[in-house]
Amino acid sequence: MPDPFDYQGKHVFVAGGSSGINLGIADRFAAHGANLSLQGRKQDKLDAAVAQLNAHGVKAHGYAADVRDYGKTAEALAQAAQAFGPIDVLVSGAAGNFPAPAVGLSSNGFKAVLDIDVLGTFHVLRAGFEHLAKPGASIINVSAPQSTLPTVLQAHVCAAKAGVDMLTKTLALEWASAGVRVNAISPGPIDDTEGMRRLTPSAEARDAVCASLPLGRFGTVSEIGDVALFLASPLASYMTGVVLAVDGGWQLVGSGMMSAALNKALGL
Ligand code: COA
Repeated sequence: MPDPFDYQGKHVFVAGGSSGINLGIADRFAAHGANLSLQGRKQDKLDAAVAQLNAHGVKAHGYAADVRDYGKTAEALAQAAQAFGPIDVLVSGAAGNFPAPAVGLSSNGFKAVLDIDVLGTFHVLRAGFEHLAKPGASIINVSAPQSTLPTVLQAHVCAAKAGVDMLTKTLALEWASAGVRVNAISPGPIDDTEGMRRLTPSAEARDAVCASLPLGRFGTVSEIGDVALFLASPLASYMTGVVLAVDGGWQLVGSGMMSAALNKALGL
């Protein structure tokens, strides 16, 4: 059987790819030979991410474009397809997060997260569809446990990630006939990410979250990247419309535990 994780010469496009989980995903594909296109907001972060990926001996390009801007996102996808050919794996992971009680959240604060997560995912997939290698392309959205676990201080994120899950499932239905699979990964607390730096700003906060996790530890970006390698591979060829939890078992202990951990983490 050929190596299912041979991504030599494949084109992987990662929106939100300049840092954190998304860069971790990009890095795993680069380690397996893929050419990478990264979309991010800031050119300096993109340049550093491209340099990290180049160290694997693959080609990588960065495109500065906010996923909230449909025109710029469409332009980035078109330029990427011109450079590396049709997209084999499209990852949509740009997200915004900060802890805030609903009454401390302005309309614009709520909208900012919805716009990045839901509208941004729609933009990346909508504009990306015409550039996919069809049949056979794989789309991976990045969700979060908050999509199904109501969580204090996360009304905006819960609403946004529930939307990402439904986009995953509805587009899996619509695009199955084109030979495009659409799945999502739902990462739990992951080290070295902006989201967890904001949600667990101290050692005590981190300990509180770890204590609530069945596996008792944070995950790593490469553990998420490995699941992405699997989802895009022939080993997952019969999977579509799935939101795969990669969260140390957090979804098993429910929203009460998560809310209590976050309250404790933030000293509330
Ligand atoms: N509490 C309450 N409201 C907040 C907030 C916080 N901690 N942080 C931002 N907001 C509000 C702002 O006040 C603003 O609303 P206003 O215009 O009514 O004042 C609104 O959100 C937009 O903020 P702004 O900074 O202008 O928007 P932005 O588009 O530049 O960035 C985020 C918004 C959410 C993306 C920003 O917090 C960010 O850059 N986060 C880093 C990315 C991240 O969180 N990654 C991890 C994903 S898991």
